[in-house]
Amino acid sequence: MKIVIKKTYREISQAAASIVSDIVTQKPTAVLGLATGSTPLGMYEELIRLYREGRLDFSRTTTFNLDEYLGLAADHPQSYRRFMDENLFDHININKERTHVPDGSLSADRVDEHCEEYEAAIRRAGGIDLQVLGIGGNGHIAFNEPGSPLSSRTRLVALDEQTIKDNARFYDSEDEVPRFAISMGIGTILEAREIILIANGAKKAPVVAEAIEGEVTSRVPASALRMHSNVTVILDKEAASLLKDFPLLANQHIQ
Ligand code: PGA
Repeated sequence: MKIVIKKTYREISQAAASIVSDIVTQKPTAVLGLATGSTPLGMYEELIRLYREGRLDFSRTTTFNLDEYLGLAADHPQSYRRFMDENLFDHININKERTHVPDGSLSADRVDEHCEEYEAAIRRAGGIDLQVLGIGGNGHIAFNEPGSPLSSRTRLVALDEQTIKDNARFYDSEDEVPRFAISMGIGTILEAREIILIANGAKKAPVVAEAIEGEVTSRVPASALRMHSNVTVILDKEAASLLKDFPLLANQHIQ
């Protein structure tokens, strides 16, 4: 696991965007796994900037998002489809038909079939070249909450209390936060050929330290990334601050 520490959120966003940009440049048909949430917003801004400067072409890129709330139609203001359109897809030359976000508008009885089809679509596309991840305050990756099996696949999941509280900031009240979601599994994520995990801010420091330095356990889903051979964790100094090696790492990485 490679760890990169930068001083600011802007710098970690640029570092993450440069990894995405290298892949899309080297392989124009690259398959990207994308994440929502506050963390990757700066990376998306940077990718849009690179596209506008003529330095990136997404016309042949395929994307698969990690998750979507169940019960929200694609055009709901809080749906992750809408998030992706507004924060990335509408601003670059990607073919929307090659952008995939799980369908949160399905009735519960159709979800299993949809999940199987989502996994099949990833396989048909040749698998994910680069998966971008954030990390929840409870250690989740995608909506794989603590306790999710490390071998889990795309499926219907119940959100845990902390996730509902963390996400209430986007809704008028906590009651409005959906309780279920469709999420890629940890097993699905670990099949990506390369993974980057981005985290910023002191609030993430305890869980980042647990995920990177604690035991590999389904209690901290992000710890499963230690079983993968090509992971880069990109942290600002606040998110990195509780790592045991922080002073050494900070000296190496922050000029
Ligand atoms: P955040 O969420 O980027 O909004 O902090 C991360 C996550 O829950 O995976």
